[in-house]
Amino acid sequence: MWGGRFAEGPAAVMREINASIPFDKRLWRQDIAGSKAHVAMLAAQGIVTAADADAIGAGLDRIAAEYEADGVPEDLALEDIHMATEARLKDVIGDAAGRLHTARSRNDQVATDFRLWVRDAIDAVEAGLEAFQKALVARAAEHADTVMPGFTHLQSAQPVTLGHHLMAYYEMARRDRSRFADARVRMNECPLGSAALAGTGFPIDRQATAAALGFDRPTANSLDAVSDRDFAIDYLMAAAQAALHLSRLAEEIVLWASQPFGFVALPDAYSTGSSIMPQKRNPDAAELVRGHAGRIQGCLVALMTTMKGLPLAYSKDMQDDKPPVFEAHDLLALSLAAMTGMIETISFRQERMRAAAEAGFATATDLADWLVRVADIPFREAHEITGKAVRLAESERCGLAQLPLEALQAIDGRIDERVYQVLPVEASVAARASFGGTAPEQVRARIAEARTTLGLG
Ligand code: ARG
Repeated sequence: MWGGRFAEGPAAVMREINASIPFDKRLWRQDIAGSKAHVAMLAAQGIVTAADADAIGAGLDRIAAEYEADGVPEDLALEDIHMATEARLKDVIGDAAGRLHTARSRNDQVATDFRLWVRDAIDAVEAGLEAFQKALVARAAEHADTVMPGFTHLQSAQPVTLGHHLMAYYEMARRDRSRFADARVRMNECPLGSAALAGTGFPIDRQATAAALGFDRPTANSLDAVSDRDFAIDYLMAAAQAALHLSRLAEEIVLWASQPFGFVALPDAYSTGSSIMPQKRNPDAAELVRGHAGRIQGCLVALMTTMKGLPLAYSKDMQDDKPPVFEAHDLLALSLAAMTGMIETISFRQERMRAAAEAGFATATDLADWLVRVADIPFREAHEITGKAVRLAESERCGLAQLPLEALQAIDGRIDERVYQVLPVEASVAARASFGGTAPEQVRARIAEARTTLGLG
């Protein structure tokens, strides 16, 4: 009864659900590079004639120029970037276009294209992370001596230097870069020539196409090669981890920019106002970096969930691999650029940071350590004595260094005037000169090493 309507309906929906061209057109450069390498190999192996290969190569160059100039036309009927380019090739050079797909399937084609794309994405992220590290190192060098409270449980713990705090993020970015670099090495094997799933009977040369496309070697198992998306998941894992780090820094910027903290002032360029509250200066960029990290993690989970139940080899589910990778990449690139810009331009309110370090009795550990070192008191007892001194300073509304000697001696007679050498926040940070500690000399040494690593001399 409704068959007529239904017969048309599902066909349109089928086309819509099946088409990946709206997103996989982003692979056009990689697709053309892969096809050119493939056809050159086919000619070298005598599988297609030199004349056909030349016509195909020239046609692909022309299509690349068209895509570059006008973008990729989005014809859903042509399903994906691979079919769209091949269809256009037929328009441009005629029937010889049909020889391009010899000894190839879209399964090894898309696996190759996507690896090439992810490889480029890794290189772009690496550059972004390096710029971020340079910004951190530059600001850390300005603030190797700037004292701020260090926190545990978000409670004032011990004074640290701002340079030390910023260099903590340099270290995170260093590990993030090594994760991307590691993923790049592992993924750099070429699936092209695996064909649909079983390989091909044509006398192809997989070493040649792998080398032409900058891969280290061809993949070793055709079933694995067409159904492996580890490389994309590796990329997303590294992206999620890097975004997580950016998000922690973003959260700190949000906190530090709040009025009760007042540790930083964001420049106009990275702040937004409120349409109703005229006094507002909101850290939206930092909030969005924090928010984007959640979406990037979601992309990782999306692809892992897509892949986890797929039998070998290719299933169309795998077409859904691209949107989460593209999305995560765009979000990460934007987050990195925004965070780098914020770090470069944020102003640190040194007097507020120092005052907060003093107000939080952050040198209480220094007092306890002094009681152990100089007065030879067991640490547990020293801890108790210091606790009393903190309680007194709290009730007197002053810092530990402002307590008069008589008051300290009333708590414990073994305290003498030398204790005042360790109570200032500057003395506290200077004392923490163990390797990797917060002492300015240590921070400067780490910055010098980082500058060398970054090629800044
Ligand atoms: N657009 C497809 C994808 O991205 C290409 C591979 C299609 N292969 C197939 N056998 N239908 O996964």
